[in-house]
Amino acid sequence: MKEFVELANWFGWQSPHVPLVVDSLPTPTFKVKEQPRVSFSTNNYLAIATSPRTKTAAIRGIEAYGVGNSDSRLLGGNLALYGELEQKLARANGKSHAILFATGYLTNLGALSTLPRAPQIARAFGFTPSREYTYAYFSDEYNHISIREGMSLSGARRYSYRHLDLDHLEKLLRQSTATSKIIVTDGVFSQDGDIAPIPDLLRLAERWDAMVYVDDAHGAGVLGASGGGILEHFQAASDRLIYMATLSKAYGSIGGYVAATGLITEILRMSSAAYGFTATLPPDQAMIISTAIDVVRDEPERRQRLWANQRYFVKRMADLNYKLVATQTPIVPIWLGDDAKADKLARAIRAEGIHVDAVRFPAVPLNSARLRIQMNAGHSVADIDHLIDVLRRHQHLAEPAGRTVAGFVPASRRSAVHAPPAEPGSGTLLAID
Ligand SMILES: Cc1ncc(COP(=O)(O)O)c(C=O)c1O
Repeated sequence: MKEFVELANWFGWQSPHVPLVVDSLPTPTFKVKEQPRVSFSTNNYLAIATSPRTKTAAIRGIEAYGVGNSDSRLLGGNLALYGELEQKLARANGKSHAILFATGYLTNLGALSTLPRAPQIARAFGFTPSREYTYAYFSDEYNHISIREGMSLSGARRYSYRHLDLDHLEKLLRQSTATSKIIVTDGVFSQDGDIAPIPDLLRLAERWDAMVYVDDAHGAGVLGASGGGILEHFQAASDRLIYMATLSKAYGSIGGYVAATGLITEILRMSSAAYGFTATLPPDQAMIISTAIDVVRDEPERRQRLWANQRYFVKRMADLNYKLVATQTPIVPIWLGDDAKADKLARAIRAEGIHVDAVRFPAVPLNSARLRIQMNAGHSVADIDHLIDVLRRHQHLAEPAGRTVAGFVPASRRSAVHAPPAEPGSGTLLAID
């Protein structure tokens, strides 16, 4: 018991941090204690969570099936609509198969912990492989925590490569003696807003006979001409690609999935406890997701507004004295470095009716705090002008920021600009002039 008291005291449980209690959810406008606010830190990029079509789908789903699914799909919970949704998700990503999980977090945990362990699980039931396979993961140091936890549970050898540093990745691939290599990357990095170079990763995968697992949580519905995500953005297709996305962000619902060849999805279906030994998505959510896919396709104006807002914000920020981490996606973080500075600036902005999240360690490496600005289809020009005006007035809180705007770092320059991390996962994050 003593160890828990000590630990809880260290975490400050006697004066716990209470997250903001909201009266409504950001669309991106919302209310706190009846006061209107605008969020510049929400994942509801296309405001689909409150679209009339997804709300109607939810009501139809509840009326048809009730409010939840108490069973696993391996037992009594396997409604036809789940399989139909999986086919739709697979088709939307140019893949033959897909497998649904209850959340995005569980998808990474389930898929990444299982792939290297599936032979062990099969052995327990009498499988004898034709040879001994050994597995290794090669993971960008800034990958989401659900990726890192999934890989760690797998028991496979793990290598962390410096953020977007393909030379470092290739060096690790060359050194590895594993028979099965899996490169793992966020598509859009959730705290940095930059994009993984999927074609370059695929070229390395070809050269070193590896698979590429891409988490497209922040690209699905947002990137690509029709919102198809990072694979559409790069026009990338390969059997080596294992595509993963969440359904809680641009799609406004909950859940996650892996789209891949039938070999991969069937191995997961048979051996991942995170798929088989848990209740599945409520049926109304599956119906909402199916409708959300249609909304993304049929209502391109949502995505057009999102990108017009992103471009307008980035353009206006060029007049201010802030450092931006990246400007390629709707996630445009403002670099502060120091936690206290980030908190102070976030509080000053919130006092003016705008919600922004200050992101600090352990969500990002130590001393790399930032305000995670996320642009949204529902922002008006007046909302963005207001944010710019507030940022201008509070600029002194970010000093010394330096008027530096990060841009896309071409693959050839990446190894040169990233200093070696002091310890795994704490790489230096650099902004480029
Ligand atoms: C890159 C990434 N992967 C996975 C997840 C988990 O997704 P979900 O919140 O849908 O469980 C998140 C959520 O923040 C994320 O940013």
